[in-house]
Amino acid sequence: MAVPAGAYKAAYDASIDDPHDFWRAAASDVTWTRKPTQVLDDSNAPFYRWFPDGELNTCANALDRHVAAGRGDNLALIYDSPVTGTDRTYTYAELLSEVARFAGALKHAGVGKGDRVVIYMPMVPEAVIGMLACARLGAVHSVVFGGFAPAELAARIDDAQPVVVLSASCGIEPSRVVEYKPMLDKALELAAHRPKQCVILQRPQSAAELLQGRDIAWSEFIAAAPEADPVPVASTDPLYVLYTSGTTGKPKGIVRDNGGHAVALLWSMRNVYGIQPGDVYWAASDIGWVVGHSYIVYAPLLLGATTVLYEGKPIGTPDPGAFWRVISQYGVKALFTAPTAFRAIRKEDPDAAYLSKYDISVLRCLFLAGERLDPDTYHWAATKLGIPVVDHWWQTETGWPIAANMMGLEPMPIKAGSPTVPVPGYGVQILRPDGTEAAVGEEGAICIKLPLPPGTLPTLWGDDDRYVAAYLSAFPGYYLTGDSGYFDDDGYLFVMGRTDDVINVAGHRLSTGSMEAVIAAHPAVAECAVIGVADPLKGQVPRGLVVLKAGAEIDADTLQAELVAAVREHIGAVAVFKHVDVVPALPKTRSGKILRKTMRGIADGRDEPLPSTIEDPAVLDRLRPILGR
Ligand code: COA
Ligand code: AMP
Repeated sequence: MAVPAGAYKAAYDASIDDPHDFWRAAASDVTWTRKPTQVLDDSNAPFYRWFPDGELNTCANALDRHVAAGRGDNLALIYDSPVTGTDRTYTYAELLSEVARFAGALKHAGVGKGDRVVIYMPMVPEAVIGMLACARLGAVHSVVFGGFAPAELAARIDDAQPVVVLSASCGIEPSRVVEYKPMLDKALELAAHRPKQCVILQRPQSAAELLQGRDIAWSEFIAAAPEADPVPVASTDPLYVLYTSGTTGKPKGIVRDNGGHAVALLWSMRNVYGIQPGDVYWAASDIGWVVGHSYIVYAPLLLGATTVLYEGKPIGTPDPGAFWRVISQYGVKALFTAPTAFRAIRKEDPDAAYLSKYDISVLRCLFLAGERLDPDTYHWAATKLGIPVVDHWWQTETGWPIAANMMGLEPMPIKAGSPTVPVPGYGVQILRPDGTEAAVGEEGAICIKLPLPPGTLPTLWGDDDRYVAAYLSAFPGYYLTGDSGYFDDDGYLFVMGRTDDVINVAGHRLSTGSMEAVIAAHPAVAECAVIGVADPLKGQVPRGLVVLKAGAEIDADTLQAELVAAVREHIGAVAVFKHVDVVPALPKTRSGKILRKTMRGIADGRDEPLPSTIEDPAVLDRLRPILGR
């Protein structure tokens, strides 16, 4: 499709100069049960509400309306699972029928509008069916990534207070079967909140024991359920809560509304990703992350495209040709994954020999996000695939891209290391610590002028104060992204990394603060710090530095083994916490703040200047050889 030159600037300017007109036009793509007459309610700033008097049902937009328009036989979802050796497809009509039935069962179990449902499941179609069934009832789902340990699940259960929990007997990792049900049981022992019921999908790889009175098998749960109709909800009602790592151990419940979300995701599919109804679109992520919510489940289905749900890895299931196999088998037009997946493929197959076994000429574009795309990986992917490789930048909080090369609107020349330009709707500015705007090329805090566009977080679940404190207080009138970066002469944005204690391990967002909390609980530990250090495969991995209590008698290897086990048990294997050093002291500022950023820089081999606020430079000097290892 030919895209007009200048279309990006025209759209961007329109979105900033007159967001009302811009988003009113975009909203006409959504089927409303009551059309909104107002686009933006700014009467309670800094809390903004999009399409405040509109009413819709997100599930009906994702399924019913395509069936009603005669597209019921089109493919909605392709499930491809190399780890179980199965694949299955659902047309829109089939998926609608499964979702309506599961919604009927949830309704029968007492789930209604506004009730929460926690979903702790592997990458199986039933997880998607569960999410859409909640949306159908106006219930609020909260999906917890399967790689999280019971304590993390328990914290989310206590915060979300679900009526029902959906889970499965197991997930399947290439090297092992992960028993989910015992982890759910453990989480429910730890949690204060008691859900009324747990619905367990029994998978053939391992059957779970069910607790009478609380647990019910998925098949039994839906056995006699009538189909449920979609329930209209307010545009501003929550569709889901997705917990993400903040700077403290307590995860933040990112709230997503219904109306703004549907409008923004539909707009993004056409304009950012260049996808049309009927195209096959594959986001190789996990439904436990925001990419999975937005671009495995909601956006492709809202548009009427075909989405791929892949239960496998880029390598080892069975080989580094797995992605090429899926693309050629299903005719995938655009692939979205994390750079770490491509680093993994490149490591195993540097010459991309597996690529020649498959015809992937149908693939038009590769989108990468979730962590910084290092230029080496960019060049490798671009050379081997010979198609545009689009780095784009966003966060769980925004739910859709903040900066991208808009393939459907106006593709631009690519600069390695940059996610290109701000997406329409996002007033991106680089601010200095004093709140003034940074010059071109000058690094500063990447902020977004309020209001944020539709689809972004309206607040944190049950915690308006934390929303304001965490995101809106540093620079009044702006949303603080937590990333630093700069604009170049051509207006391209460069995202350099987090300014807080959030790290990205293999595209998984984790908090070093929560790891520190686990480590500090060890009886031999007086003080500790966890920093994210560069890793050639996973982008970053955590590394622990520990000061022992006076008189503690434990050798370093035993301590490391115990701390690694504790982080795995409390947070999960995805933390990939493997390395601990015992150090005599931690470097601090005179006010007692640990100099994590300075240590991270030294560990990454950068020439870190000594901060002027350092209390005792000798402490840092003693650490240099350890950090450099
Ligand atoms: N359930 C249970 N355990 C899980 C899990 C899940 N859903 N996902 C990962 N884990 C476990 C893994 O089995 C592994 O455990 P181990 O220490 O016993 O081996 C551990 O968590 C670390 O997993 P991971 O970081 O995924 O490492 P890996 O070596 O298994 O795989 C990659 C490396 C690069 C192939 C993999 O991380 C990957 O595909 N990354 C892409 C991530 C992505 O798509 N992110 C979404 C943002 S777009
Ligand atoms: P998450 O909420 O898990 O999507 O993680 C969001 C964080 O990941 C951002 O704040 C960035 O630090 C990082 N991130 C995501 N995409 C990119 C990108 N394209 N370039 C650089 N960093 C990215």
